[in-house]
Parts: sequence; structure tokens; C-alpha cells
Amino acid sequence: MEELAPSSIVILTDHNTELLCLPYFLSTYLEDEEFTHLSIEPGESSKSIECAEEIWGVMLEEQLDRKTLFVSLGGGVISDLGGFIASTYKRGIQSIHVPTTHLAMTDAAIGGKNGVNFHGLKNQIGSIRLPRAILIDDQFLNTLPDKEIRGGFIETIKHALIADATFWKKIETLEATAAAKDKSVIEHSASIKQQIIEQDQDDFGIRQALNFGHTIGHALEASLGISHGEAVAFGIIAESFISEKQCGLPQEELNEIIRLVKACIIPDLANDLDADKLLNLMKSDKKNEYGEVRFSLISNIGVSKIGETVPIEIVKQSIAFALSKMK
Ligand SMILES: NC(=O)c1ccc[n+]([C@@H]2O[C@H](COP(=O)([O-])OP(=O)(O)OC[C@H]3O[C@@H](n4cnc5c(N)ncnc54)[C@H](O)[C@@H]3O)[C@@H](O)[C@H]2O)c1
Ligand SMILES: [Zn+2]
Repeated sequence: MEELAPSSIVILTDHNTELLCLPYFLSTYLEDEEFTHLSIEPGESSKSIECAEEIWGVMLEEQLDRKTLFVSLGGGVISDLGGFIASTYKRGIQSIHVPTTHLAMTDAAIGGKNGVNFHGLKNQIGSIRLPRAILIDDQFLNTLPDKEIRGGFIETIKHALIADATFWKKIETLEATAAAKDKSVIEHSASIKQQIIEQDQDDFGIRQALNFGHTIGHALEASLGISHGEAVAFGIIAESFISEKQCGLPQEELNEIIRLVKACIIPDLANDLDADKLLNLMKSDKKNEYGEVRFSLISNIGVSKIGETVPIEIVKQSIAFALSKMK
């Protein structure tokens, strides 16, 4: 804090992190400093322009100047929203992220992508601006519900799959919840994302590897309203099947992936998934270019292949395959 020399400090929480994380944060990291605390409803619906507007308003009323430090204490909703508010208030003030979920520690808080949902679509309005620091403290995970832990750990499984076979071998031997709370696992997973975004800050190349499991996952999340973690678990299995068909992923590696993903999460899905509806949703994914559905796949565990176009028939087969394995 001292190095940043802020004129004032704002701390953004949601009501859960206010109750469960703020007292520990204050006693461990802030001690006697004064601050303005803002707390919002938990959940994705708070990632909105209305919520940002309300917070900009309070900050203006409090006459907070350009040397204010904005602290986002919470999960990915708080870092996405807080980062957006900090990057736009008076054309940008310094911010730090204090992630309190496994997902935010290893994924959402890293990379400087900030934003809010708009007109019912995710992350449509936002900015890319890095926080000054990210404070990772695994103590916060002690109060996080198991479902949230496992949902976040799916992204760590993805990091291993796209970039690090050695890390895969390590997490394969661990129980999912224990692994997700393990400090060295968190730090390594975060470093994989960090290294990828350092190579491609603007998201036109290798950063797309992070989309593995998400092309089908996002479509499923949008059509069934299941959690992101559940949807990505399904997406990873489906896209590993495509990787086997299209990029030579060995069969035994496909089997290993199915085993580890299922040990982490098994989504509760109906048998009659509408593959055509999912395909239409994939076509409207904002990561596509020139009207083609592009996939980020893997050719081996730890080796990604981006920008792969896949025949519709194989995508359909992959959905049926993942559905049969998720039982
Ligand atoms: N910017 C990026 O690069 C990026 C990457 C991935 C995901 N995201 C975004 O992140 C968001 C999801 O993040 P999330 O899963 O952390 O969701 P979240 O922030 O909604 O947190 C999940 C739930 O856990 C609660 N919680 C948080 N920390 C807690 C703790 N320590 N103890 C008890 N409860 C706690 C929250 O109140 C909430 O109810 C999505 O909006 C997604 O779009 C952004
Ligand atoms: Zn994700």
C-alpha cells in the first residue's frame, strides 16, 4: 500500500465477501488505514452498467481523486466489475485485486480484462487494463463452498491441458478440493495464465488457447443456465473428443481427461440436449471470425492448437459423446 501512496482507498466487496473476507483482509493487510467500503449483491447480475454507475456516483460524491486506490475484494464478479470501474473513473485510477475464489485467483483476476454484462450478453462492455498488483492469499478459500471451489478448479485443469503436461501429472494424483486449495497449485495455475497473456495481451493469438472447453461450454451455459464450471467440464470432454478426431490427441490421454474432469464435476444434464441450438449459439460466440466456428483444441495433454475449424458433424458427435460420458 505504501508504495502506491494513495490519497484514499476504496474497497469493493459483495455481501458474502464483506462478511467472510473483509474482516481478515483488514486485520491482515490494512490495519489503521482509512477507507470507503462499498458492498453489492453477490452474483453475476451485479456485473452491470447500473451497478458501475452507482459506484462511480458514490466515488464522485465522496470527492475521491485520481490518486485513489481501488481494491476489489471478491470473486471474478468483483474483479471484473471493480477493474472496470477503476479503469474508467477519472480516466483510470490504480487498482489492486484481492481474489477470494479459486477461479479469481487463477483466472479472472489475471490478465487485465475488465467488464460488465450488457443487454443480456456477457462481458460486452469493458476495458483491458492491468491492476497494479494481485494479492493471492489461500486463507480466503476456507469459507468458499465446495461447489464454487470445484467449479473454479476446472479452469486449473484447463490450464494444465493447454500448457503443462508436468503440472497435469501432479494434479492428476490429487483430490480436486484439496488440490484447489493447495497454494503451490494455485500459484502454478495462475502463472500459466500469466505467461499466456504476457505473450498476447490483445487476445489475437495464443491467448485463445484459454478458450479450450469454452466454445461448447459457453453455448451450454447460455442454453441450460447451468454453472460455468459445470458447462466447461462438459465442454472440455466434448472438445477433447474433437481434439482426438482432429488433432491426434491420443485415446489414452482422452480417457485420462474424462477421468479427472469427472472426479471434479459431473453436471446434472438432461438426455435431450438440443445440438442444433448449441451450434447456433456457438456461431454467435464473439470469439468467431468470418462466420466460422473456431475451436481452441489440444494435440496432446499440455499442447494447444488454436484457430481450428471443425466440421459440424464432428461437433454434433462430440456433444453426444460428452453426454454419454457424463452419466
Ligand atoms: N476477466 C477475466 O479474464 C475472467 C476470466 C474468467 C472468469 N471471469 C468472470 O469471473 C466471474 C466468475 O467468478 P467467480 O466464480 O469467482 O464468481 P463470483 O465472484 O460470483 O463468486 C462466486 C460466489 O462465491 C462467493 N464468494 C467469493 N469469495 C468467497 C469466499 N472466500 N468465501 C465464501 N464465499 C465467497 C461470492 O459472493 C459468490 O456468491 C464471471 O463473471 C466471469 O465472467 C473473468
Ligand atoms: Zn472459464
